[in-house]
Amino acid sequence: MEKESIFIKGVNKVFDGEAILKNIDLEIKGGEFFSILGPSGCGKTTLLRILAGFIKADEGVVYLGNKKISDLPANLRPINTIFQKYALFPNLSVYENISFSLRLKNESDEYIEKEVKKMLKMIDLEGYENKKPNNLSGGQQQRVSIARALINKPKVLLLDEPLSALDAKLRQALLIELDNIHEEVGITFVFITHDQQEALSISDRIAVMNKGEILQVGTPAEVYESPDDIFVADFIGENNFIQGKVIKINSEIHATLYSERHGEILFEMDKEVKIGDVVKLSIRPEKIKVTKNFPKKTDERFNILKVYVHEVIYTGFQSKYFVWIGGDENIPMRAFKQHAVYFEDDDTSVKWDEEAYISWNSEDSYLVEVVKGDVNDKG
Ligand SMILES: Nc1ncnc2c1ncn2[C@@H]1O[C@H](COP(=O)(O)OP(=O)(O)OP(=O)(O)O)[C@@H](O)[C@H]1O
Ligand SMILES: [Mg+2]
Repeated sequence: MEKESIFIKGVNKVFDGEAILKNIDLEIKGGEFFSILGPSGCGKTTLLRILAGFIKADEGVVYLGNKKISDLPANLRPINTIFQKYALFPNLSVYENISFSLRLKNESDEYIEKEVKKMLKMIDLEGYENKKPNNLSGGQQQRVSIARALINKPKVLLLDEPLSALDAKLRQALLIELDNIHEEVGITFVFITHDQQEALSISDRIAVMNKGEILQVGTPAEVYESPDDIFVADFIGENNFIQGKVIKINSEIHATLYSERHGEILFEMDKEVKIGDVVKLSIRPEKIKVTKNFPKKTDERFNILKVYVHEVIYTGFQSKYFVWIGGDENIPMRAFKQHAVYFEDDDTSVKWDEEAYISWNSEDSYLVEVVKGDVNDKG
């Protein structure tokens, strides 16, 4: 059977005179692991509650497949929700918690036992059926919540920051488990998070949200490598931004901007630009190489700037270089070097308090914004 997609069309929500969701249009494909990523207060939970049916949108509709569900009460939607806090019944055992909704439906004991067993196996908690939630770790409790939500065989599982109450290691482990569970049950997961690492590592696609609007929808690689917008570029991962005026169209793909602070910078025209436009580039720190000497193996497509290494921070798997362009502390940039990767140049010898060079291929100067007209170009 074709899995049903969710269609959200023109959803608006106002709270206390403030627009919290602004004309949300979104398609979530059937079976997808879809994340909604955005900062605190941007409207993620509100959107989820509208999908679940806990609140009504002021305008707009929600479809599941070709069925309009936005008029249905929550309990008649084939959708279940997992919240940040586990919300298990503390006085019921694991078994009773998981089987709760089947009991309400008056399913037979045999059916319930069979289904709970399947769930316990899936969440890797066989042998825990008689424990009370209090005697489980946070991660185990959240797994029980997942089982409790899935035992109804919903078509869609909504997860509102289900991992945020857990410590970092446990979060990682449960994230992998969620991925496996998704694989196993094959239904649509809508996962809310403000943690970009979580979203990038697990999702088929991500919607990046800010201030009640969806700014971009794409695969993790798309939103990371090709942000549509300055907010997306800044919110996901770390970034360097350079703003300047286009002074030359070098070729069909390349153009040059001039920034008072960075000088001439070559970039690829991922968007249409013309001479005189003020544009903003983002350059990911891991795309920038730091070398002690003028870099050897580059060509005319590379940007090379002389810098002063202000700080080097070793973080285990990579080192972060904080440099100042031309030694000016007002023009900082960041470059990250992964230790596992072999670099042909002499970057290992770069220390702080030294002069060095940074270089990057113009194809990694990603054009995030074209600001037409006469705008301050002190990027
Ligand atoms: N029932 C309500 N009445 C009034 N305002 C509300 C209500 N629910 C949410 N809001 C407001 O709507 C905005 C968005 O809230 P929402 O809970 O959707 O954000 P969020 O993206 O889930 O944030 P977080 O990451 O902190 O959970 C906030 O400013 C919040 O105060
Ligand atoms: Mg929330």
